[in-house]
Amino acid sequence: ETLTMEVEQIMKGNFDHFMKKEIHEQPDAIQQTMRGRVVFDADGNVQRVFLGGMVDYLSTIRRSRRIILCGCGTSYNSAIAVRQLMEELTELPVTLELASDVLDRQCPFFRDDSIIFISQSGETADTLRALEYAKSKGALCIGIVNVVGSAISRATDCGLHINAGAEIGVASTKAYTCQITSMVLLALALSEDSRSRADRRMDIMRGVVTLPDTMRRALELDQKMLALARTLVDENSLLLFGRGYNYATALEGALKVKEVALLHSEGILAGEMKHGPLALVDETLPLVVIATRDSSYLKQKSVIEQLRARDARCILIVSEDDDSLDKFASNEDMIIKVPEVCDCLQPLINIVPLQLLSYHLTVLRGHNVDQPRNLAKSVTVE
Ligand code: G6P
Repeated sequence: ETLTMEVEQIMKGNFDHFMKKEIHEQPDAIQQTMRGRVVFDADGNVQRVFLGGMVDYLSTIRRSRRIILCGCGTSYNSAIAVRQLMEELTELPVTLELASDVLDRQCPFFRDDSIIFISQSGETADTLRALEYAKSKGALCIGIVNVVGSAISRATDCGLHINAGAEIGVASTKAYTCQITSMVLLALALSEDSRSRADRRMDIMRGVVTLPDTMRRALELDQKMLALARTLVDENSLLLFGRGYNYATALEGALKVKEVALLHSEGILAGEMKHGPLALVDETLPLVVIATRDSSYLKQKSVIEQLRARDARCILIVSEDDDSLDKFASNEDMIIKVPEVCDCLQPLINIVPLQLLSYHLTVLRGHNVDQPRNLAKSVTVE
């Protein structure tokens, strides 16, 4: 017992909890995800993406009728985060499936489907069963997995290891951002033949290589998020509104808050606000609105105006050089400024303050950070 505790302490290094350590490891973890896969020319300029484990399969995926992304929990949220980009770059329909629902519905899968199974542990029973089902239908099965040698990584036809390093905290943090990064690389590789998308690909690749530094700057929000957590510690509920690339950020932020801080939280597609959630809005319920600059910025601004018209308590996540929304935040604790990256990569940055918020809320509320009650790191039963 004492020995296990000492080993744990050594593994945690200077951090109080694995979750905190893993949040702060993200810049290095993403660097590992990119290693050997982002290719530079002699002058050090980024050139292309090369995915060793995928070369023989890319053309099959390009020829498939659709791409399906499948997983559970945080892994499923990472699928939501890359869906839009994958559709844009591949011009294929990209659909999402929760692994348990694939089995419940006996989903129609076909030989000309390419199905990407996303799992940190590579052992989640629902995802593994869905994979076996997909194989029985003859679909091409691709793995996005962290644990090398895991059941899902062995059973897939091909794939990418995300190389995030061991993730111990039950709440997934660095695996989420490395899963998204891996699938962005995959989407880039899939579109390599398209000349018309060359400029867009180059913009994204340039953004990808700066991610570790951008993420380091986002991590500087730590104390700011602690201050915000102090103001939210006694709340009973927290709603998060996002759309487009950052719908996933709202869902994943809410999942972190509920699973570790044991605080009811919901991520909501902002476009659905008027279709129900607005009824909950009053001057007491805290709300997070993600409004960094991208093609849905103006729509999010209007969401914020409508919420403020009802005196809602708005916490805003905005781009760092955007002062125009400051006036809508209830006080200065409630405006969070994040560094800007290429639109499709912004969810990787925007999730960081929310991971930090859920961490600090958990500690302040006195709950177990690394092993939340009733949850397990890998759920190996259906
Ligand atoms: C469990 C964990 C979650 C995780 C999910 C999927 O519910 O508590 O953190 O996101 O399983 O796990 P996987 O290993 O398949 O990514």
